[in-house]
Amino acid sequence: MTRLRLFFAAWPPGRVANALYKWAKAASDETGGRVTTAETIHLTLAFLGEVAAERATAAIEAARQVRGTAHRLPIEQARYWRHNRIVWVGPNETPPALAALAAELKSALAQAGFELERRAFEAHVTLIRKGREPRMLPALPEIDWPVGEFVLVRSRLSNEGSSYEVLERFPLAR
Ligand code: 2AM
Repeated sequence: MTRLRLFFAAWPPGRVANALYKWAKAASDETGGRVTTAETIHLTLAFLGEVAAERATAAIEAARQVRGTAHRLPIEQARYWRHNRIVWVGPNETPPALAALAAELKSALAQAGFELERRAFEAHVTLIRKGREPRMLPALPEIDWPVGEFVLVRSRLSNEGSSYEVLERFPLAR
């Protein structure tokens, strides 16, 4: 039985991805590790893990019921997490529309029978993996990410890192 590794995410527009990548490259002078490529930078909303391929349709149907609204995501802080050795960036405070989107999505998926983590949603965009703890990270440029849709993504793991394929897009109301 084919299993797919799936997650829902917000994907940044190209100019935001490029700005984040450029910052991450500079930050990696301090941390080493693996920098997320511009094309793969994203913010995870809900992680489904490995599911049977037939269940992808159920995930899409669940996500279609979600009534999220378009909003802006300011990237204001850069942090290092020791427990998983990542450098991530995110807003100082999760925008209410983003928190609502993640919560509604999780509840629609749970209703459809998907098992999700109970861990609270922490809006973070991973930019460096397997990095050393930095003494100091470079200052972030001003980045305002317009979130106008979310996507269902299939992830394939390999030695070079993950590659992602967008399976479906879900526009947010404006
Ligand atoms: P990360 O950036 O914090 O590693 C694809 O793997 C995306 O799903 C990544 O953004 C990753 O978050 C997230 N992810 C991977 N495994 C996860 C898990 N067990 N629980 C929640 N999110 C996970």
